[in-house]
Amino acid sequence: MIEVKDKINIGLIGLGTIGGGVAKILHDKADSITKQVGIPLVLRRVADLDDTRKDSLPDPGVFTTDARSILEDPEIDIVIELIGGEKPAKDFIEEAIRQNKHVVTANKEILAKYGPELLAMSDERQVGLFYEASVGGGIPLIAPLKRNLQVNNITSIHTIINGTTNYILTRMEKAGLEFSAALKEAQDLGYAEANPTSDIEGFDAAYKIAILATIAFHTDVRPDDVYHEGISRMASQDFRYAGELGYAIKLLAIAKKEGDSIQVRVHPVFIPDDMLLAKVDGVFNAVQIEGDLTGRVILYGRGAGSEPTANVVVADAIHIARSINLGTELQPELPLDAPKLIKPISEIETRYYIRMTIADQPGVLAQITRVFGDNLISISSAIQKEVDSTVQSTEIVIMTHTAKEQAMQQAIDQMKKLEVVKEINNLIRVED
Ligand code: HSE
Repeated sequence: MIEVKDKINIGLIGLGTIGGGVAKILHDKADSITKQVGIPLVLRRVADLDDTRKDSLPDPGVFTTDARSILEDPEIDIVIELIGGEKPAKDFIEEAIRQNKHVVTANKEILAKYGPELLAMSDERQVGLFYEASVGGGIPLIAPLKRNLQVNNITSIHTIINGTTNYILTRMEKAGLEFSAALKEAQDLGYAEANPTSDIEGFDAAYKIAILATIAFHTDVRPDDVYHEGISRMASQDFRYAGELGYAIKLLAIAKKEGDSIQVRVHPVFIPDDMLLAKVDGVFNAVQIEGDLTGRVILYGRGAGSEPTANVVVADAIHIARSINLGTELQPELPLDAPKLIKPISEIETRYYIRMTIADQPGVLAQITRVFGDNLISISSAIQKEVDSTVQSTEIVIMTHTAKEQAMQQAIDQMKKLEVVKEINNLIRVED
């Protein structure tokens, strides 16, 4: 028998930036939300360890420091988990599902690492587990991929999915800043965290592309399957040379399907400066999806921030609440296909930009080009840049044609052993 409710109760765990936004939207837009759901959506309890945060709530009386009191409250229908990180958030999500509560979360780490198991658990209990806010903040990505693009055979995703690193790269390109100065600026503005490792080293983007690739390719992709490099070795010269060659440098998360195998990777990339993704600057995110029916689709917007992210959290809660009120079932997850081979980075083929410092003396270029030739790597251009006559060295930039990563890494190892090569300063893959 369908239980007739006169309201849907929400328990919110985590009253940080996004949680505060959720509480505000539920309060400020209560009338419009009631119209959409059919009955009111009530914020019954809010848990956070920091009890100074309760004063930001429209009704501080709902505040508690005990998250368990939400999980154990039989009146709560939907738990919104916004504390982030793996522990104790995963326990909270599992306990909420076990208590037959629906869950909305923004937790990319948990979805990337344990998504298929948690979704199977929520299907079994016939409750919803929604996570639109986990990838791309305010940009709707997961619902479009699961629903509107599902007939499409998606062949690739290229995405700028980390606002912190995109801000830093933009400042390096536009203002000529070095990495450390751009990072400091991002921290001062609140775009980068005091410990920026997860963003800077590509972990955050790896979680996000694992989630997107799993949905887009209907196959299990976990963070350990994603090759990732960060942006800390980028230097202002790289942006100058990229500009001269007609490229921008972006930290891309890339997922590609090639027959029965896929590749999933995060690293800095040269992209032609007339591509739309090249024009995505600052903290903005964008996702470019290629499908056999739609061709190219690009979604662009704010990948973080209180209101944009809280908007999609509340929208997930409204979707669940409507189905509770109407007594309709939430659609179970589509089963994943058989696992696909995930290509190791050594197997990919791409073009490369290499910046190196070499001795400025006769015959040096011949030695270097021989190493490329021996590894079957074809050079498309080699340009000599700044000469430092005090130490008789010069910087050169080499662009290659498409080559195998394994061959390129071998060539780099061999060049490092040449006496005339002072330093391999950077190696950046090129996506045309
Ligand atoms: N730290 C993330 C970013 C935002 O810089 O894009 C939340 O996913």
